Amino acid sequence: MFLLRKIFFTILVLNLFYINAFAQRTEVLLDEGWKFSKGNFPTAAEPGFNDTRWETVSVPHDWAISGPFDKEIDKQVTAITQNNETKATEKTGRTGALPYVGEGWYRKKLNLPVIKPNQKVLLQIDGAMSEPRVYLNGKLVGQWNYGYNYFYIDITNALKTNDNLLAIHLQNKPKSSRWYPGAGLYRNVHLIIKSGQSVDQWGITVTTPVIKKEFAKVNIKTRLTGKGLRLVTQILDSLGQQVALDTAKSIFGNEAEQNIAVTNPHLWSPESPYLYTAVSTVYEGNVPKDVVRTRFGIREIKYTAGLGFSLNGKVRKFKGVCLHHDLGPLGTAINTAALKRQLTILKEMGCDAIRSSHNMPSPEQLELCDEMGFMFLAESFDEWAKAKVENGYHLYFNTDAEKDIVNLVQATKNHACIVMWSSGNEVPDQFGAEGVKRAKWLQEIFHREDPTRPVTVGMDQVKATMQSGFGALMDIPGLNYRVHLYEEANKVFPQGFILGSETASTVSSRGIYKFPVVKGFDKQYPDFQSSSYDLEYCSWSNVPDDDFVLQDDKPWVIGEFVWTGFDYLGEPTPYDSSWPSRSSYFGISDLAGLPKDRYYLYRSRWNTTKPTLHLLPHWNWAGREGETTPVFVYTSYDSAELFLNGKSLGVRKKDKSTPQNRYRLMWMDVKYEPGTLKVVALDSNGKPVAEEQITTAGKPYKIVLTPDRKEIKADGKDLSFVTVSIVDKNGNPCHTASDQLNFEVSGAGAFKAVCNGDATSLESFEKPTMKLFSGKLVVVVQANKKGGPIKLNVKGKALKSEPLQIVAVQ
Ligand code: GAL
Repeated sequence: MFLLRKIFFTILVLNLFYINAFAQRTEVLLDEGWKFSKGNFPTAAEPGFNDTRWETVSVPHDWAISGPFDKEIDKQVTAITQNNETKATEKTGRTGALPYVGEGWYRKKLNLPVIKPNQKVLLQIDGAMSEPRVYLNGKLVGQWNYGYNYFYIDITNALKTNDNLLAIHLQNKPKSSRWYPGAGLYRNVHLIIKSGQSVDQWGITVTTPVIKKEFAKVNIKTRLTGKGLRLVTQILDSLGQQVALDTAKSIFGNEAEQNIAVTNPHLWSPESPYLYTAVSTVYEGNVPKDVVRTRFGIREIKYTAGLGFSLNGKVRKFKGVCLHHDLGPLGTAINTAALKRQLTILKEMGCDAIRSSHNMPSPEQLELCDEMGFMFLAESFDEWAKAKVENGYHLYFNTDAEKDIVNLVQATKNHACIVMWSSGNEVPDQFGAEGVKRAKWLQEIFHREDPTRPVTVGMDQVKATMQSGFGALMDIPGLNYRVHLYEEANKVFPQGFILGSETASTVSSRGIYKFPVVKGFDKQYPDFQSSSYDLEYCSWSNVPDDDFVLQDDKPWVIGEFVWTGFDYLGEPTPYDSSWPSRSSYFGISDLAGLPKDRYYLYRSRWNTTKPTLHLLPHWNWAGREGETTPVFVYTSYDSAELFLNGKSLGVRKKDKSTPQNRYRLMWMDVKYEPGTLKVVALDSNGKPVAEEQITTAGKPYKIVLTPDRKEIKADGKDLSFVTVSIVDKNGNPCHTASDQLNFEVSGAGAFKAVCNGDATSLESFEKPTMKLFSGKLVVVVQANKKGGPIKLNVKGKALKSEPLQIVAVQ
């Protein structure tokens, strides 16, 4: 038996080798050796243009993230009507105050293998900010307007035998975004060389229309170019073992359809993200012409009136967050390690879903969500035909919306993680009959391109959408905020469920606490920070607890997407008009990825496998002795007792008297005295089950370096994120430390970036020096391609760290 299996396996491997050795497809990432310059160069597309003095960069690249911050960049005197503003004021940090506006050029020599007659060469760009115009050997070969979408161009006919010159022009208009959009070739650029007889780009569609315990029917539609072809599809399990093999019976026109049974299927879910791979091989006679690998999951999604959302037959609610696309100090340049770190932090919180607000997600983020287990709401637009900002997407809506949706769906449809599309966010077109027509038109395009997933819109004008029919026509009515309208909307809308497509928008700054502790909206302070007691929000929004009540008490609410998982560059509400605020306060974690207290509030509900017990505020309040300093505990336990320097301050138990009392344990009248604050969690019999404490820190004694990963890949891209903090001689964190620190990286890597999460900091992310904010910051170290040890040293005025060693492995 064992021998048979071995022989079978050897045949399989030989067969795969044969296929790969003769197949005609090559995919190359165009990541290195680009020349770049900002500016207007009328002849830069010409091969003869001299770019020797331009910077050499690698792609993905964000030209604006190096700064410097400048309040004049994209300064806007405007009233943000969406935020209920009626008077125009000067907005300085709305798009991050980084130099993204203007024109930029990228040039690259293409060293291609010899292209045989009947081969095709495609250039695929996963997103370029913005309005990419692509030139090959001086000739315009393709263009796209929307900076967030994927598109490809067949460049075969414009290629010369050698010395090909690719040039890409980009342009960002001022007032074109409501957040930091980034600038440049910020996502990957691919070159695909394949046979003329092959699978079309994005030409494979895998769905799983029937799922039973014993088998799943996998339906694969494949679009092909070429005559007399044969299509063979293998399905591999997650270990690469073949579980099914099928030859397409016939090819009608240019499409083959296969229905393949997978027995005893492993289903995909956030808890068990099992993936299969379909290997499609195209033959002409016995000669393989093309091989395409498509990863997919077997899972069933359903949205039912009265029951809500179910995955694989089990009803569940989305525990989701909205994310903008920037990666904090790295800007918008896509980096898989940075995306993976974000998702790791969110997973630990118990989050199971992401909304790519308000645009197409990167392919890398979708791949990670497939692998790590996150459901995905893939959004498309922040504007339709009516403007939010002067140069926003409304400029292109009429001409481009359909092809933008087609590319979104076609490029991403096989991702198991995507469970819903969104055609828009808070579009002003929610008002008026034209908007209803647009909503219907867009939804029908999604349905035509993908009949398997429903469509939502994040609606903030709920009253208007109730009256006009806008909300009733959506597959999924999504409400942004407006907790007071959920009941009414659910009565008016026919779907039988409501999604919290955007929730909370609570604001806070990591480690900053304001007194007295009172709930309220639009609170502002002289230091332009918001309080981490998590009771501050905006005129249109609310605190997390208000959403929890709806999620817990209303079976027809199908989940929420919190605004936002991480702070992002731009939109510094409530300090939109206060320089130097230049990044958001909405994040559950800060811009550096460091969890704020709110992280533990969500974790206490969402992480059902590990307990949460978290105390706030910090306990370093010299000068506040004897003053009222409330203590909150975010915990998965029902009750707890608080002790200050050994003295009990009483037991608190969650109750339903107010949303806060239901979800937080609060001791409102604690008088500050230095020492140790301890919380002891109690079980239902009042027995202690867990404890947590914080102690007033003494003098700073030591710098501590904590990397998220000690071993990274020597691929020139991988990153280690090192949290830097200061402790006293007993190891107590100095929460209020703000020392200026310097960073030195040597060995097989380099200093990449630094961020402290302070939304008002104007220090560069790319210079190896920064102040601690609330006692912490994060240094990002990048591996080179050589491999070996990387050393990080951190020095302050009085303190110095032990060197940290990270290893980059080949
Ligand atoms: C919403 C909007 C988001 C963001 C948020 C801030 O209305 O959809 O993009 O602006 O408000 O609270």
